[in-house]
Amino acid sequence: MPVGSPRANGNSAAIARRFLAKAEGLNAETRTFELNRLTYRGCQGCYGCKSAADHCVLADDLTQVLEVVKEADVVVYASPVYYGDITAQLKGFMDRTFSYLVPDYETNTQPTRLPPGKNLLFILTQGDPDPEHFADIFPRYEYFLKWGAFAQIRLVRACGVGGEGAADVPPDVLFQAEEVASRFCER
Ligand SMILES: Cc1cc2nc3c(=O)[nH]c(=O)nc-3n(C[C@H](O)[C@H](O)[C@H](O)COP(=O)(O)O)c2cc1C
Repeated sequence: MPVGSPRANGNSAAIARRFLAKAEGLNAETRTFELNRLTYRGCQGCYGCKSAADHCVLADDLTQVLEVVKEADVVVYASPVYYGDITAQLKGFMDRTFSYLVPDYETNTQPTRLPPGKNLLFILTQGDPDPEHFADIFPRYEYFLKWGAFAQIRLVRACGVGGEGAADVPPDVLFQAEEVASRFCER
């Protein structure tokens, strides 16, 4: 679970933690990566993952995260909205997931190196209370996530939650995160 907020106890982390607590209650083994604590570069556009190797050729703190996400049955991406998008921390990770795509991903019926059947939860939080604002973010990323051949992709989103002080996520949003965990992790 890569989390993209610099606020370890912020809103997006609170939603992610609620998902995690439910998942662990269902005996799921979990890993959390606070991207803000890691040292890594954005994708260098070298296409080494399309020629020299079947993985990202950069060696830094994201190497392990990319490997763990590749093997996970369930993946959670969590981020606050910063200037109308996900944070630089999560975007940096997302760009490096280009390495999951096979060289001919644009035409291949199996564009991804990821094992099939994964489920993905996308968590977004924003200060703006109007859900129509920044509603474009998830569909834009979902478009690319479809190359990842995820079985199910779900969004849990909190609007009108500020970035100062403690997390302030409405209970119904936390409940949605639990529901997704039940759906994804119940066997
Ligand atoms: C640099 C920065 C940019 C932000 N940009 C937006 C924005 O474009 N739209 C918005 O609704 N909120 C914006 N916010 C507010 C955060 O998205 C909001 O407080 C969020 O709930 C914080 O999540 P966190 O507690 O997980 O860090 C911004 C906050 C910061 C610090």
